[in-house]
Amino acid sequence: MSRASPFPFVREGGFGENFGVFCFPRVWDKTSFPAQNTSCTPPASCDIICQNVEWRAGRLRNLVSVEDITIERWDALYSRCCDMIANPGEYVDSCRGKVLASLFYEPSTRTNFSFQAAAMRLGAGTFGFSDSSTTSISKGESLADTIRVAASYADTVVIRSKVEGAARAASLYSPVPVINAGDGGHMHPTQTLADLTTIAQRRGRIENLRVGICGDLKYGRTAHSLIIALAAFPGITFRFISPRDLRMPDYSLDFLRTRGIEYEESTLLDESMPELDILYMTRIQEERFEDKDEFDRLHGTYVLTKNLLERASGDMLIMHPLPRDGEILPEVDSDNRAVYFDQVRNGMFIRMALLFDFLQLPRITPSPPESDKRAICRNPVCVTNKEPYLPPLNAADGGCGYCDK
Ligand code: CP
Repeated sequence: MSRASPFPFVREGGFGENFGVFCFPRVWDKTSFPAQNTSCTPPASCDIICQNVEWRAGRLRNLVSVEDITIERWDALYSRCCDMIANPGEYVDSCRGKVLASLFYEPSTRTNFSFQAAAMRLGAGTFGFSDSSTTSISKGESLADTIRVAASYADTVVIRSKVEGAARAASLYSPVPVINAGDGGHMHPTQTLADLTTIAQRRGRIENLRVGICGDLKYGRTAHSLIIALAAFPGITFRFISPRDLRMPDYSLDFLRTRGIEYEESTLLDESMPELDILYMTRIQEERFEDKDEFDRLHGTYVLTKNLLERASGDMLIMHPLPRDGEILPEVDSDNRAVYFDQVRNGMFIRMALLFDFLQLPRITPSPPESDKRAICRNPVCVTNKEPYLPPLNAADGGCGYCDK
C-alpha cells in the first residue's frame, strides 16, 4: 500500500488541498474548532473557506464522502477493525454511555442493523427510525431541524436518504459527527469500508488488482464510492460492465481520467471473466428508475452462474454489496471465491472501528454558512431541491458541493 500517495483528493503536503473540495461562503473562523493544527492555510484565491478544521488537522469529524478517508485513516481504521475482530471482548464497554442515532429515510437491512449492532457491541445505546412517516418529518419538519433534534440526544448521527447530498447537508447543522449511510445514487462510504476490509482480509493487500464492476453503474452508489477509494491504491485498473443505459456517470469517469487511472467499458460479462481479480456485482436499482418499463427491460441483464464462473481465475473474489435481485444465483454461494457475506460481517466490524472514534468526539457548535442566496443544482434528486433553505456549496470543479453533479 502506498503511503506516499494518499487518496487523490488529499495531495501530498496535507489536507489543505481539500479546501477546494467543499467551500463555504463564510469568513475563515479559527475559533469554531478547538485543538486544531493550522499548518495548512486556505488558498489565497478563496475567501470562502472550509469549516471542517478538525478534519483538516487530521481528525475525521464527519464521514460524508469517501473522499473524507485518506490512506492513513484507512490504515488506522483497518488496524482497529482487525483488533476488534480478534479481541471483541476488549471493546464491550469502550463506548458505554454513548448514544448513536440512526436515521433511515430509506430501507436498509445491512447498514442499519450493522450500525446498531456495532454500537451495541461497543456498549453504546441506539435510537432512530427506519420509517420516517412515524416521525415529525411527516409533519413537514426539515432535515436541518431533524438533525439538530437527533443530535441533541446522540453522540453520532447516521443518516440514509434517497436524496443525494443529504448527509453533507446534515453535517452543516450537526453538533455531533454525521455518517453517510447512503445518499441516493451518490455515495455509500461505509459500504466501501466494508468492501476494502474484505479485499484486504482476503488478498492481504489492496494493490495491482483488475477490478470488474458489473450491473447498474449509473445509480449504484456503492460502485461510485468504491472506485474513488480504490483509485488511491497502486496498480488498480477497472472494467465497467453495464448496459449502455446504465453506464458509469461521466463525473466518475472524469475522476479516474484526471488521475490517470486505467479503465475500460464493456457490455459483456462473460468475456470479462478471465481478466478479473475482483468481480463486484451490483443490483439494478429499481427504486431509482423513473420509468418502470425501463427497469423491466434492464433487469436480469447479468446473471452470475456457476457455469460462468468456470471462465474466471481460481482466486477471483466475487463481491456484492447486497441485497441481490437475481444477479448472483444462490448456486454461487458455496463457491469459496464468493465473499459477499464476508462483506456483510466485516461491515459491522469496520463500523465498530469508526464508531469507536466518532462516539468519543467532542460536541461542537455548528456554524452553517450564512448566505442570502440558496443553493441551486440541476440534479432533481439533490438535497438542495428538497430543502430550500440550504446555502450554496461548491465543489472544487464547480459542481454541486452537496451531490457532486
Ligand atoms: N449494502 C447495503 O447498503 O445494504 P442495505 O441497503 O441493506 O443497508
